[in-house]
Amino acid sequence: MSVTVLEQANIFEIRTDKSSYVFGINEKGIIQHLYWGAHVEAADCGYLLKSRLHSSFDAEIDRETEEYGGWGGCNYAEPALKVSFADGVRDLKLRYEGYRVVGENEIVLRMVDSYYPLDIEVHYKAIPEYDLIERFVHVRNSQTESVRIEQVTAAVWTVQALPDYRMTHVTGRWAGEYQLRSTVLSEGKKVLESRRGFTGPHANPWFAIDNGKADETSGSVWFGALGWSGNWKIVAEKSTFGHVRIVGGVNDFDSAFVLAPGEVYATPVFVGGFTSGGFGQMSRNLHKYQRDYVLPTSELRKVLYNSWEATEFAVTVEGQKELAQQAARLGVERFVVDDGWFGERHSDRAGLGDWYVNAEKFPNGLEELIDYVKELGMEFGLWVEPESVNPNSDLFRAHPEWVYQFPTREGTQLRNQLLLNLGLPEVKQFVLHFMTTLLTKYDIRFIKWDMNRTVTEPGTVASGQDVGASMWIKHVDHLYDIWAELRGRFPHVEFETCAGGGARIDLGILRYADQAWISDNTDARDRISIQEGFSYAYSPSVMMCWVTESPHGFNGRSLPLSYRFHSAMMGGLGIGANISKWSTEEMEKAKRYVELYKEIRPVILNGDMYRLSSLRDSNVAAYQYNSKDRSESVVFTFLQSQHFGSEVRHLLLQGLVSHASYEVNIDEGEPFVRQGSTLMNLGVAVSLRGDYKSIMIRIKRLE
Ligand code: DGJ
Repeated sequence: MSVTVLEQANIFEIRTDKSSYVFGINEKGIIQHLYWGAHVEAADCGYLLKSRLHSSFDAEIDRETEEYGGWGGCNYAEPALKVSFADGVRDLKLRYEGYRVVGENEIVLRMVDSYYPLDIEVHYKAIPEYDLIERFVHVRNSQTESVRIEQVTAAVWTVQALPDYRMTHVTGRWAGEYQLRSTVLSEGKKVLESRRGFTGPHANPWFAIDNGKADETSGSVWFGALGWSGNWKIVAEKSTFGHVRIVGGVNDFDSAFVLAPGEVYATPVFVGGFTSGGFGQMSRNLHKYQRDYVLPTSELRKVLYNSWEATEFAVTVEGQKELAQQAARLGVERFVVDDGWFGERHSDRAGLGDWYVNAEKFPNGLEELIDYVKELGMEFGLWVEPESVNPNSDLFRAHPEWVYQFPTREGTQLRNQLLLNLGLPEVKQFVLHFMTTLLTKYDIRFIKWDMNRTVTEPGTVASGQDVGASMWIKHVDHLYDIWAELRGRFPHVEFETCAGGGARIDLGILRYADQAWISDNTDARDRISIQEGFSYAYSPSVMMCWVTESPHGFNGRSLPLSYRFHSAMMGGLGIGANISKWSTEEMEKAKRYVELYKEIRPVILNGDMYRLSSLRDSNVAAYQYNSKDRSESVVFTFLQSQHFGSEVRHLLLQGLVSHASYEVNIDEGEPFVRQGSTLMNLGVAVSLRGDYKSIMIRIKRLE
């Protein structure tokens, strides 16, 4: 049982294996945050439960630590909820009404406005084994009149008083996603957000706070991740009284909506956690949570081949068959045809929206290729981009009113395409219908669902329909509905989330997606940084990585096949090169890497990941993956470039059993035996020389 209620003291504790989260009801009926961190005795926190005032200019400063505070009265912090009632009153006075405990691990607090029947339920659901709490809120309009919701967040997290606060987050851009950043929080706000209609590559809804001293292996870290794939906002605010709160949810920008009488709005889930084991433990807790509680399946990722970089739009049945034959020789398990198979899609200028198989490219239908792929022992997968349309398409000619647009504006075209207004019921039906037809007609086992543009002109001119600002939310709600429906109808089909690379990855879409395409940048060196940043919040079990050509088209950099494989083996392995042009030697080597990957795959995808060293502050990057029972370990090490005199480095491994003996294999070298304690404290000596050298170390416990 994670929830304890001290009725007399009006104090509540959510206790996980290694954390306490404590709040109470103060004399004003406000739910006040008291503590979040390593275990404490909840009753001892009672003295914190009191109203506070600094001056009449700074009255009620206890409101800065409200668990879920509405905008009204003396609340000047970023509000959790802001509404406007039908009579014009814009002041919310939420008072605690009661609680209920659901099962072992959930508590729901009820709040209501002191005058208007607007009911708020604040949910806390503990995940005790990973020291996490899922939070979300339900807002019910029990009035007879509508209420306008101007801002509604999923949770407010308050971090205890620290001498300094450092916020860690990721930033990026197309082909450069998940770059780690950290910044000191001084008084004021740091806002992470997306206003582009999807999660976005520029920021991701994940944060971590520490006192500036935590590292990979030690220190207290408070963190959270929001599950929303549309416009989102996370605000870290430090008040002049030293309170730090992190407020997050659907972005309120341009998003006010009306809640009709009797309607309930449910926010997305915002999970938060505490660890005293540093950033490494934070990530491992998030990874395990995703695998056990978020992802739709626990299947291991299949080794896939994707044709995009090899053929782009020049898809032909013969060309794809040739690639498929080569892919099968390598041991690939899933063959995926990317963009270019449908409509008049010969470039990015036409065809999007026309989801029929192009008869010139596939004169005998798609079945010919699917049968061929299956005979080679692989599954067949297909790329789609259902939310977009090229103006040069039959779909647009038939339904120009289906795209986002304002009547007096010419729609912005990005990649020569417009975006369908998925919030419209008829568009949702269209997408569901064509996807159902595709998945019924053909033996497709995998869908890569792409989205290659941001939202612009977010309106509609459909007859008499006023979608209003809530279209931002509706688009995502309908997207989730479609994915849920398709997964229900086709349980044997796996889905990948892709948005011009990694622009739609968050804990919302990961409830429906089995895997994620994290970047269009497949340069194996650039990928190290992207993958490392990704690993702070997301599990390697969803992270898809392809081996592609050298020299790489983006950077003109040549990298050995070993480096490219090692980099791509850090998550779900894929191959995206033009393998019909690979030499026999390259094919042989690649085949061996695929075999090797299949051996280590359970450790990589389901194990515990440790970031041993980063190219951010060293010229060696190293990542270790341990099996759950710590009997097996795999380490990938990448040298950026040699500095004379520093050939031998000692990598201090983590998470092994101290007293156990392990056999250590460094690449093809002679195996040797070391004690777990030695490998963790003295380390394992690795010799890396040259530029872009990489090695893989395999470690197995001896019985
Ligand atoms: C963007 C994706 O990220 C790529 O992998 C590829 O699918 C292209 N779109 C196809 O247009």
